[in-house]
Amino acid sequence: MSREPNEDSRRFLVKLTLNGKERTGYCEPRTTLCDFLRHHLGATGTHVGCEHGVCGACTVNVDGKPVRSCLMFAFQADGLQVNTVEGVAGEDGRLSALQQAFRRHHALQCGFCTPGMLISCQDLLDRNPRPSREEVLEVVSGHLCRCTGYVGIVNAVLDAAARQRELK
Ligand code: FES
Ligand code: FES
Repeated sequence: MSREPNEDSRRFLVKLTLNGKERTGYCEPRTTLCDFLRHHLGATGTHVGCEHGVCGACTVNVDGKPVRSCLMFAFQADGLQVNTVEGVAGEDGRLSALQQAFRRHHALQCGFCTPGMLISCQDLLDRNPRPSREEVLEVVSGHLCRCTGYVGIVNAVLDAAARQRELK
């Protein structure tokens, strides 16, 4: 992180790796990571709801861990790997196993919670290929979904886990 030369002295240069590609932008010290992603880097897949760390809509993966990007300053991500919902599908656009399961199980309606849900649930599957229903419930309990009643989401995660195990 460095100050932007010859410009507003409150702005800093932030360099990070977003979904595998190096990206840079200038922001104020108070700029949150979610605002930096959306407004400075154009990565609007990450949604912003409560801005208080409660709803989970803004969840992104930073250096291998899901974080609330509304509770992190952009400059704190300087030099780190940030993965968002835009990076979940394959480079050819093929949906991930988890995304396909969300579609099969009607695990989204308005889709507002979905980017954060996918990031947290994929993290669970990466850490634990055989999660119990209770373990999935614990993860999704960190995300507010006002549409689905959660049943489809939990079933989708369990289904994706089972299919991923079959492929191994
Ligand atoms: S917008 Fe970050 S947790 Fe709600
Ligand atoms: S699908 Fe609408 S909030 Fe979850």
